[in-house]
Amino acid sequence: MTTRIIPVEIFDLVVFGATGDLAQRKLLPALFHRDLQDQLPPESRIIGASRRAMSQDAFRTFAVAALEKYLKPEERDPAVMKRFLDRIDYVAVDAASEDGWPKLAKVLKAGNGRIRVFYLAVGPDLFGPICEKIGAHKLNSEQSRVVIEKPLGKDGASAKALNDAIGKVFPESRAYRIDHYLGKETVQNLMALRFANTLFEPLWNAAHIDHVQITVAETLGVEGRAGYYDTSGALRDMVQNHILQLLCLVAMEPPSSIDADALRDEKLKVLKSLAPISESDMAQRIVRGQYKAGASGGNAVPGYLDELGAPGSKTETFVALKAEIANWRWAGVPFYLRTGKRLPSRVSEIMVQFKAVPYNLFGASAGTITNNQLVIRLQPNEGVKLGIMIKEPGPGGMRLANVPLDMTFADAFNVRNPDAYERLLMDTVRGNQTLFMRRDEVEAAWAWIDPILNGWKSSSELPKTIHRGRLGPIRRRGADRARWPHLARG
Ligand code: BG6
Repeated sequence: MTTRIIPVEIFDLVVFGATGDLAQRKLLPALFHRDLQDQLPPESRIIGASRRAMSQDAFRTFAVAALEKYLKPEERDPAVMKRFLDRIDYVAVDAASEDGWPKLAKVLKAGNGRIRVFYLAVGPDLFGPICEKIGAHKLNSEQSRVVIEKPLGKDGASAKALNDAIGKVFPESRAYRIDHYLGKETVQNLMALRFANTLFEPLWNAAHIDHVQITVAETLGVEGRAGYYDTSGALRDMVQNHILQLLCLVAMEPPSSIDADALRDEKLKVLKSLAPISESDMAQRIVRGQYKAGASGGNAVPGYLDELGAPGSKTETFVALKAEIANWRWAGVPFYLRTGKRLPSRVSEIMVQFKAVPYNLFGASAGTITNNQLVIRLQPNEGVKLGIMIKEPGPGGMRLANVPLDMTFADAFNVRNPDAYERLLMDTVRGNQTLFMRRDEVEAAWAWIDPILNGWKSSSELPKTIHRGRLGPIRRRGADRARWPHLARG
């Protein structure tokens, strides 16, 4: 199986926050991979921008260090490396003053008429000021677009203010809000699974589905990001965006087309149908936790409060909750959402559990008939697994067993799985907003999250302790296995 590379038009990409972590870890390696695949036109330029004074050569050296750190040695083709570095320029600019803007305008002028992407890999407090400067210096041509990263606010009101500030300079059709989960291969595959097969869609409703679980478990702690994380917590960091986006793709109606707005209209309807979680429901429907010092994978690891260096923080590093979608398709089907850091294994998956068979024809001696489960695995080992009941082979009467029909994509297609940023960066150049969040989606997600945050603020309850090796804070037997959500049923 070979990949199909569609070259993009000539573009200039300006990365604000070019010396930051995201640029080093994700953006530069993703762009290099696209160059390696011959997707970038020779004339295209990557212009680093940040406050730090640096020459073009110094920034190229900085880029090499990032690529050496985040790419495998066999990926660093010397000829492509040279070509890639030749594209790179750097301008020191300050969002708060005029410093550097005339120079940036001059550099961009050389590429007038090209597609121009402004990638804001900076904190949200700079989104408004940078957009304002782009507007003031008339850099926002018809061919330009802006890309923004989360956090898109810390609640509904701040998200709206950010969207307003961006909207003053860039119309919605040129604003690209990244949720990198939407760029993951398996997430896109979810749409293929649902809408390019006849098998699942007739069963995809409350009549046949018992519940859905969406899990994003990480083994890493907050590492160097404790400062940011403590103002966020798992609900804002993962649920408000990534997990609710996954829920939308599982629960939405078939869109009328795969055009960006047709798809986003359907996701928006799901977000608007989420049943609010009232303060009195919170104890039954939400669990929050915080990891303590302990051992993970054989290594001694610090607890969250040690990493933060501040005792007494109530920020949750784990959250599990039961969501409900109040519409005809999903009434009565719980969606269990959970995510956390420093958990025993790294796994992101969507599990759809179908209802039990109405009657066991085979009797007790054949064993238990377990419900069919469809597991869509995002990482690691991307793939799809369907658990079905079969007869155990051989003599001895009818004995039933649940066996997975397992399709791991790496086995099915012998191709490298691109990082989400590769796809998303090229989509911004192509002008395809399908995998980006529209303003109203972000605000609808906050409208559901805000009451939970307010409930926590007014509660004196502390997050529960996450014990070593557990998938959550509940200590009852079996609670940290797949059966866990049932125990949290209200
Ligand atoms: C980010 C969160 O958006 O997603 C991080 O801010 C989290 O806290 C990360 O670790 C998870 O992404 P992935 O692609 O590693 O699952």
